[in-house]
Amino acid sequence: MANIFSRSSNWAPIKIIIGIFFLATVVTSAVTYYATPKYLRVGYQPQQPVPFDHSWHAGKDGLGLDCRFCHNNVTKSEHSNVPPTSTCMSCHSVIKSNSPKLAPVRESLQSGEPIEWVKVHKTPDYVYFNHSAHVNRGVSCVECHGRVDEMQTVRHDKSHSMAFCLDCHRNPQDHVRPIEHVFDLGWQPASGSATPKEQKQAQRELGAELVADWKIQPPKSCFGCHR
Ligand code: HEC
Ligand code: HEC
Ligand code: HEC
Ligand code: HEC
Ligand code: HEC
Repeated sequence: MANIFSRSSNWAPIKIIIGIFFLATVVTSAVTYYATPKYLRVGYQPQQPVPFDHSWHAGKDGLGLDCRFCHNNVTKSEHSNVPPTSTCMSCHSVIKSNSPKLAPVRESLQSGEPIEWVKVHKTPDYVYFNHSAHVNRGVSCVECHGRVDEMQTVRHDKSHSMAFCLDCHRNPQDHVRPIEHVFDLGWQPASGSATPKEQKQAQRELGAELVADWKIQPPKSCFGCHR
């Protein structure tokens, strides 16, 4: 049968549909990327049910408790836990035991229901992240969370975007430190009197040694983080 259109133009509507679909996908992902709550989360600082102060409990001018005292799973598992009520009560059954600020902690102990802390950091489900893989390879909390030991209320300090992760995965020597300093957020590679430039240089030299010694090879392929 004779056809008034050429054979190839039969495909034109399909090509247009595919074209529109493709464009829509690109625009949607671009919008999701730049407008997603995650991307805007830097500075996110929710009010917590109890005004727990890291700068006092973990800071050097306060009690100076080690991060692992409360976040004790951080070296052992993917997940860094928030402590149970009993951890707080080990002190607060005696210290400030009548403080109104601690009322939700006492209620939690009585009811057995955990305190409803508001989650500050959250990676999307399609990203695989593992705390112990980082912490046990000399990546300090400060690299991804900032100076929590100086925060009265925890805020989202770093972007946690894909570029942020990749930036370190490409140049781990600029970030890794000896294991014994991972929980010391104020640690510097050179002495206190060194200039920022000297600090950077010292970090690079020490970091390069550690990367070689531990054969550090952070994943850069898509499958490494999107499993
Ligand atoms: C005495 C217990 C305690 C100690 C010590 C402690 N934390 Fe926490 N941490 C908590 C509690 C409780 C929360 C949840 C409430 C909040 O966000 O303030 C929390 C929350 C956090 C969060 C935010 C979690 C989220 O929701 O995304 C980070 C990050 C964090 N801590 C890091 C640290 C670091 C780093 C140290 C060591 C310098 C440390 N913490 C020491 C009890 C502790
Ligand atoms: C190692 C002991 C210790 C642990 C564990 C501890 N605290 Fe504290 N906390 C203290 C001390 C000491 C103070 C300061 C008391 C003062 O000001 O005299 C304090 C103060 C506080 C205050 C302020 C109270 C007020 O009335 O001013 C809050 C709120 C608080 N802690 C919450 C918590 C929470 C929540 C946890 C568990 C995640 C926790 N603390 C774990 C020792 C501890
Ligand atoms: C390489 C980056 C990186 C390092 C280093 C790191 N974290 Fe995290 N942390 C994250 C990310 C990403 C999340 C969000 C994880 C998620 O949503 O599953 C997170 C979440 C958390 C949470 C919230 C857990 C929850 O479910 O509420 C706590 C607490 C925490 N980190 C504490 C720490 C402590 C303490 C250290 C240092 C010992 C540390 N982190 C080191 C990236 C890091
Ligand atoms: C400051 C440096 C740094 C940052 C930031 C960082 N990483 Fe890593 N990552 C490392 C190092 C170092 C290793 C360990 C590599 C090794 O052991 O060879 C690692 C390992 C990994 C691994 C492999 C772990 C395993 O169990 O196989 C994954 C997955 C990963 N990182 C995901 C992420 C994601 C997702 C982010 C961002 C939210 C991130 N990383 C941010 C330094 C970093
Ligand atoms: C080091 C870890 C890491 C590697 C490697 C990685 N990604 Fe991602 N990716 C992430 C994180 C973290 C996010 C979430 C960012 C956010 O929450 O804004 C993400 C988000 C995405 C998204 C969602 C849209 C967006 O941009 O937020 C796409 C699509 C994506 N990655 C594709 C890829 C592809 C393709 C590769 C390989 C070329 C890759 N990723 C390699 C960590 C990684």
